[in-house]
Amino acid sequence: MSGKLINGKEIGGKIRETIQQEVNDLKSEGITPGLAVILVGDDSASHTYVANKQKACSELGIYSRLIQFEAEISEDTLLSQIEQLNTDSAIDGILVQLPLPKHINEQKIIDAISPYKDVDGFHPINVGKMLIGEPSFQPCTPSGIMKLLEYSNVDVAGKHAVVVGRSNIVGIPMGQLLLKKDATVTYCHSKTQDLSAITKQADILVVATGRAKLIGKEDVKDGAVVIDVGMNRDIHGKLCGDVDFDAVFEKVSAITPVPGGVGPMTITMLLYNTLQSAKKKSS
Ligand code: GUN
Repeated sequence: MSGKLINGKEIGGKIRETIQQEVNDLKSEGITPGLAVILVGDDSASHTYVANKQKACSELGIYSRLIQFEAEISEDTLLSQIEQLNTDSAIDGILVQLPLPKHINEQKIIDAISPYKDVDGFHPINVGKMLIGEPSFQPCTPSGIMKLLEYSNVDVAGKHAVVVGRSNIVGIPMGQLLLKKDATVTYCHSKTQDLSAITKQADILVVATGRAKLIGKEDVKDGAVVIDVGMNRDIHGKLCGDVDFDAVFEKVSAITPVPGGVGPMTITMLLYNTLQSAKKKSS
């Protein structure tokens, strides 16, 4: 495959090397970065994501603590667990794996996490700081995508960036980070009329919808940079993104594969945020 491929595993690996070095430096000062991961219920995708996060922590020497609850756990029990972690000095980052069971108010849980340990960047204080350009924890998937663009020498300033999807986790912050780097940003979503007419205008197209192969050859401009956040199964049960990779490959100037594109970057940025949090303890 040509140099068109934006290889998240490789770029993430380079960033992890520098994180590793900084973790080692901190450890020589007696500080071990620590991440607590709360996993509720038995959603198999969530279990896989959490296992991958823990493996990455252990590879870099970051302490990780998995706290698991059954799906029936009460909101109050979860809240008191978070309160304990907020004051636990071994823990620099707290991540509650989403989605949570329906009877739990997700926003209430996110609001309970200390903004200083909110390594997901989901707390309203961190979201607000991101919007006004103040230093904050940035959500891992969008900040990982910004790193992919940077390492691939994609100049964002002045480009038309189209973001398809408006989740709090990916779509909304993605557009804001692109805007901060001077892109002209258009958001598209499930109610957008004539999606294709808009995606075809994108110099940079980020797709985060959870709909397998939503974007095909006719939906992209020649030479576009395409970032695929999707992780789906096609009709044959094979992993695929929200973009029909094979169909658009010839037309685009750069594209992320699924898997091996955005996924490894999300975890890399979680490690990065956990390190940043732990570094505040250093003199
Ligand atoms: N579920 C899907 N993506 C994420 C993420 O980035 N963080 C958390 N906490 N849950 C998720």
